[in-house]
Amino acid sequence: MDFTPSQIEEEAKQQLLSVHSAEELEAFRVAFLGKRSKLARAMEELKNLGAEERKERGREFNHLKQFLQDSIHSRKLSFNSSREAAADFDESLPPIEPLKGKIHPIPQTISEISGIFEKLGFEIVDGPEIETEFYNFTALNIPLEHPSRDSFDTFYTTDGRLLRSQTSTVQIRVMQARKPPLRVIAPGRVYRPDEVDASHSFMFHQIEGLMVDEQVTFSDLKGVLHLFLRELFGPEIKLRFRPHFFPFTEPSVEVDIRWDKGWLEILGAGSVHPHVFEAVGYDPKKLQGFAFGLGVERIAMLRLGISDIRLFYENDIRFLRQF
Ligand code: PHE
Repeated sequence: MDFTPSQIEEEAKQQLLSVHSAEELEAFRVAFLGKRSKLARAMEELKNLGAEERKERGREFNHLKQFLQDSIHSRKLSFNSSREAAADFDESLPPIEPLKGKIHPIPQTISEISGIFEKLGFEIVDGPEIETEFYNFTALNIPLEHPSRDSFDTFYTTDGRLLRSQTSTVQIRVMQARKPPLRVIAPGRVYRPDEVDASHSFMFHQIEGLMVDEQVTFSDLKGVLHLFLRELFGPEIKLRFRPHFFPFTEPSVEVDIRWDKGWLEILGAGSVHPHVFEAVGYDPKKLQGFAFGLGVERIAMLRLGISDIRLFYENDIRFLRQF
């Protein structure tokens, strides 16, 4: 005999793993319990053995036979119960939707806005969130004693750097690194010492825009913002340019859109201040430019009908799945 009962048992266990239908189970039964199976041949040969060994082997083979019969039986039962489960299946019920991942509404809004500016020839650029006072203040014409510095004084690191309070820092970095003409937008996170409530957060997102060339007028700024806001809010949107102050632009405006029955501030903008050009080594007599900065959360809230900014940061799937 060139095999032992335990070898056959191992073999049977292996093959049972690939039995998935009644037909396969029948083939398994024939292979292991049929007339020409190893087991049948082994039983056949028992009679050639001596009495002691025949008894011993006979017990082992009967044991194996029992194992095979039990396995086939329980397999059969499992097929039957899955057939019963199939009979219970109600195909009129709606399917269980798999949980699909989605892009968060903030990056969604950023890529939509970036897409509009890309069509206008703007390039998307990036800058660090941990900045020096030079980039966040000094180069942007905000000297140490300037009152507008208070609302921007954010979170300082122990080595005197700070989390940027505006994406305007990227204006400076781009101008230092490149020569005009420039047309860039810089999306990213900013940090403010603001009390958190339904419309404020100590961290939010801005998109900065900058265009510099030999001739870039305030009309160009108005034209670009008109195009952009019409693309974003629809051709019917009404704009208002309201005089304002920013240290890094002159003249400066805040741009409002008509919303419900009032005006709503949507972004800040202006012509690049000569001091800013000087800070990066550009000649203010030869160059002109405009810059603007908008809050991404504000725009996302308006367009998606969200009334509390905190919802963006809570990772509540019930909220996020809607967008
Ligand atoms: N940095 C300004 C702010 O955070 C926005 C702005 C950017 C205004 C560029 C003018 C020009 O409020």
